[in-house]
Amino acid sequence: MSALEETTLTPDVKWWQSAVIYEVYPRSFADGDGDGVGDLAGLTARLPYIASLGVDGIWMTPFQPSPQVDQGYDVSDYCGVDPLFGTMEQFDTLLAEAHALGLRVLLDVVPNHCSSAHPLFQAALAAGPGSPERDMFHFVPGPVDMSDGGGLGTGVADLDDVPPNNWQSVFGGRAWSRANPDSARDRDWYLHLFSPEQPDWNWRNPAVGDYFDGVLRFWFDKGVDGLRIDVAHALFKADGLPDSPSAGGVVDGLRSNPQVSDQEEVHEVYRRWRTLAEKYEPHRLLVGEVNLEPARAARYTRADEMQQAFAFAFVKLGWDPAAWAAVGNELEAARQLHGATPTWALENHDIVRSVTRFGGGDVGALRARAALVALLGLPGPAYIYQGQELGLPEVEVPLESRVDPMWARGGVCRDGARVPLPWTGDDALSHGFSLAESVAEPWLPQPAGWGAHAIELQQQNPESSLALVTKALELRRLLWKNEVFGPNDGGTWRVEPGNLLVCERSADFFVAVAMGTEPVRLPAGTVLLSAAPLAADGWLQPNNTVWALRD
Ligand code: GLC
Repeated sequence: MSALEETTLTPDVKWWQSAVIYEVYPRSFADGDGDGVGDLAGLTARLPYIASLGVDGIWMTPFQPSPQVDQGYDVSDYCGVDPLFGTMEQFDTLLAEAHALGLRVLLDVVPNHCSSAHPLFQAALAAGPGSPERDMFHFVPGPVDMSDGGGLGTGVADLDDVPPNNWQSVFGGRAWSRANPDSARDRDWYLHLFSPEQPDWNWRNPAVGDYFDGVLRFWFDKGVDGLRIDVAHALFKADGLPDSPSAGGVVDGLRSNPQVSDQEEVHEVYRRWRTLAEKYEPHRLLVGEVNLEPARAARYTRADEMQQAFAFAFVKLGWDPAAWAAVGNELEAARQLHGATPTWALENHDIVRSVTRFGGGDVGALRARAALVALLGLPGPAYIYQGQELGLPEVEVPLESRVDPMWARGGVCRDGARVPLPWTGDDALSHGFSLAESVAEPWLPQPAGWGAHAIELQQQNPESSLALVTKALELRRLLWKNEVFGPNDGGTWRVEPGNLLVCERSADFFVAVAMGTEPVRLPAGTVLLSAAPLAADGWLQPNNTVWALRD
């Protein structure tokens, strides 16, 4: 039996239904060559650490060739490896070694936009207005200056400020740039929901779909186990690209612009991709970044679309039991309607670390542990972001070191969740981030005291966050094996007096989180796991979570 088969449960449970996936942000995971940027060699060398956590696989954020304007989410070649991260041979080795360790490998696919350096966008720029090359993207002619009778020449500058509609970029500023600002003849604008270096594909052109079929096949043929789909709900824009009723001059790119999000046509893409994913054995997994309310997001995980979509309503919660219960029950309602089990996450490379979100300091750290233990006991697959198992806080990256394009354009900085991991307590080789004999300055600076969170130290401490997560994952596997956890479990959420949040996973099993400020009495049951030691009288101290079996 192969290592991967051993991780599969009974045949009627698909591996992704019970899976916990570890998100790797390769830039910040481990640096094999000492240039200050994490890479494939570093990740491969450190795979045994990930396997030792007891997760089922990894999701790697983009390492494909890219000018790195958006740290790799501006892809210029979907089927390659950026030399910054290594070579295709190194990727093949990584994949083989991950599989040998029983870890599945998911990659990121970015189908909403590419890099402006992508050859097809460059060809579109060169081919000029009205060309079939431009129809691969959203090029729209701007107004023509008729003052000279022919529209070729004067007063061009005055017209530069009239984009085709009022859409705003997620990163700030308008979502349109001129294709060729120096030309009087080329009046086209092109659409970019993110930075100007990330032009949006035109999914109404069937050639775009064909192109992405090739991308999926390329990676699936290699044996990649699945794909995380970037901005999955935004591929189609409202036909005719009308003004957004809600943009109204406010910088708001995606969430409140109904014209760029959740268009019905997008579901056809995922039906097609699911069919393609199921041509492979084992079937490949599709997990979507579908940043929508539960009822809308669940439609992307109907039986013939993706298998998973992150529960974003949950990702954004603060330490608020009523909000958790409301979101939990909404997700459960969506599951009952569409059969879509929520895919849980509390962190990823785009959002503020949960320790900091939940209040920071010792309290934030306790709450983040309690929240992670809760998450791993909920019905459905779960994702852990690298460093979350260590309880890393958000870092206040010095102004001069910030590189996130969202910071420069929109004033929101995501770098604080992306700081290179501390592997060792001492500060040599950037706390062990570098596996080479030396290391250049890491691409984001590690703050003072970073070594206190080091993996090496936590591995030796049975009370550490790392030890707790490893224990929770082990117990989770056992509960799946013994069918205490099953693929059809739901979640009924309520808040009991004292702000005790309870999620009944089944008639037998519940998760309880003490979210108040005073100790609370636990509902009757046998505690299987707690995030922090239990008080002798069985009361639950604030900021603790238990998994329990009903007596
Ligand atoms: C997704 C990614 C984010 C990126 C954006 C644009 O939200 O997670 O990091 O900036 O898409 O590709």
